Amino acid sequence: MIGIFDSGLGGLTVARAVMDELPDYDITYFGDTARTPYGAKSPQTVIQYAMEDSAFLVDQGARIIVIACNSASSVATGHIMDRFDVPVFEVITPAVDMATEITKKGIIGVIGTRATISSGVYEQKIRERLASAKIHSRACPLLVPLVEEGWMNKPETRMIVKKYLHPLKTRQIDTLILGCTHYPIIKPAIQAKAGKRVNMIDSSIAVARAIRQFIETDTSIQAQLTRGGNTRFFVSDITPQFEKTARLILNRNITLNHVTM
Ligand code: DGL
Repeated sequence: MIGIFDSGLGGLTVARAVMDELPDYDITYFGDTARTPYGAKSPQTVIQYAMEDSAFLVDQGARIIVIACNSASSVATGHIMDRFDVPVFEVITPAVDMATEITKKGIIGVIGTRATISSGVYEQKIRERLASAKIHSRACPLLVPLVEEGWMNKPETRMIVKKYLHPLKTRQIDTLILGCTHYPIIKPAIQAKAGKRVNMIDSSIAVARAIRQFIETDTSIQAQLTRGGNTRFFVSDITPQFEKTARLILNRNITLNHVTM
């Protein structure tokens, strides 16, 4: 099966995109809801949590690990690749590939958690592909709690998004990377404030496509992955709010299994 983890809810956007791209494959999702958010924690702590999350998924039978969290992707990918003998996908590289292909002016905005933005990994990867790029990054720490709270369509959310995007707008970005897996949930609000001509790069779709392409071209991984379209969802803390927002993101009811980390 394909194992996907995040600090909590946001990675469900990736799970949904993977389910859409690869409906026949079995998926196990782990949301570390007891220890969320990761984006406000130190790199050492995020690495430790991401390693434990990956170990849990591999114990469950994961033959691919998907780090469906930008904060964990930005600091823990190398550690996970070193420790576990399975292909590892993170959400940053596919988003950077998409953004650098689509941008016309080479002026790219990146929004994410403090952990992701201060890691500088988006800048580094964008420059590797497009040395002339002008990159404008901004940490948006209030957006994750707003999404977790279910405030997708509140005027307050639109106001905060507008405030965060203002400096990027004045620099005339033509492409905006949603560098946090929670942000696709409020994509309409972000698109409205960024301007309709700005390309939105949703890392959940980017990584799901990259995984599909990888599986399609690798017969050995095809043989290792179980099929049947079965999905399992584990969380380290079950709350009514998580269940409600999870239903909204996945557009269906799910059974949550509790696991202690
Ligand atoms: N989903 C996480 C990310 O993509 C953000 C949530 C968190 O801070 O834990 O960075």
